[in-house]
Amino acid sequence: MTFFLGCAGTETGTMKRVRLLLAAAMAFCCATGFAARAQEEGPAFVPKIPDRQSWSFAGPFGVYDTAQLQRGYKIYREVCANCHSMEDMHFRNLADPGGPEFTEGQVKALAAEFKVTDGPDDNGKMFKRPGRPADPFPRPFPNEQTAKLANGGAVPPDMSVLAKARSYEPYDWFPADIGYALWSMLTQYQTQGPDYISALLQGFKKPPPGFKIEPGQNYNEVFAAGNGIIAMPPPLQDGVVQYPKGPDGKPVVPETVEQYSKDVAAFLMWVAEPKLDYRKQLGLEVMIYLLAAAGLMYFVKKKVWAKVHA
Ligand code: HEC
Repeated sequence: MTFFLGCAGTETGTMKRVRLLLAAAMAFCCATGFAARAQEEGPAFVPKIPDRQSWSFAGPFGVYDTAQLQRGYKIYREVCANCHSMEDMHFRNLADPGGPEFTEGQVKALAAEFKVTDGPDDNGKMFKRPGRPADPFPRPFPNEQTAKLANGGAVPPDMSVLAKARSYEPYDWFPADIGYALWSMLTQYQTQGPDYISALLQGFKKPPPGFKIEPGQNYNEVFAAGNGIIAMPPPLQDGVVQYPKGPDGKPVVPETVEQYSKDVAAFLMWVAEPKLDYRKQLGLEVMIYLLAAAGLMYFVKKKVWAKVHA
């Protein structure tokens, strides 16, 4: 460098060329360096906001759709139960009013499909036996470590209250977030959980160009918690779960990822809030009672104060 600087006044044609070449090489290195960095960081992830969907259980008069809950259970059983536990749920709950309302006989058969650990027996050994209605749903993995090992380091969360534990924030700036919360309260919007789960199950897409994904990870356009990267592989494909057939031999609802996602999200909402129907019905009855009481009180007040003149 000193050589070039020292000779600045009297540089020859060769030196000029060398200097030009050096400058070009440096520019090239800088450019490729920046490009490599940009690729390393990848484009910033902006999660897709789940669409608001119509649910039978939304709003003040909402109730669960029994047939939808039964289909959702089938998806949980055949797909999700391979990885996700649901520890607060017992088989007998599947017969509860306001739920999937399987008959007692059906619940017995559904429970017996699972193997549960019992014991110890007279020899002090634990043993496996078919499930009974009084059993809780067994876990797919014996402990968290095994679950992690089988799922690329991430534990599939328990599904007992998942639909109430997950949500999304369309705005993270003030005052839009407050406005959104107030508007949701006013419109009685309480289905963020199922909206999110349904969108998540349909959100497995090809990553945008330049988005880096390690083997065993998956890109999901709504998974904000992981900046678009989720350890769960896409669990649903069209046609993987057989739905009840109508008289024409065709499924009563389409066997598509979209329909599966909605049905299993509705089922998980019931799992998280099994008494929703009862809560809403009681709320309505209380409102009617209060209205009637208010009307009566008005006439009582009129009568009591009738003789008092201003
Ligand atoms: C092969 C195992 C596997 C199957 C099958 C599976 N999951 Fe998952 N799931 C995972 C793992 C692992 C995670 C944790 C992902 C993470 O944190 O990166 C997860 C996370 C989730 C989450 C939480 C996402 C969040 O916001 O934290 C939901 C919801 C979910 N799964 C729903 C389902 C549903 C519904 C099904 C059935 C249709 C299902 N999963 C089937 C492995 C599985």
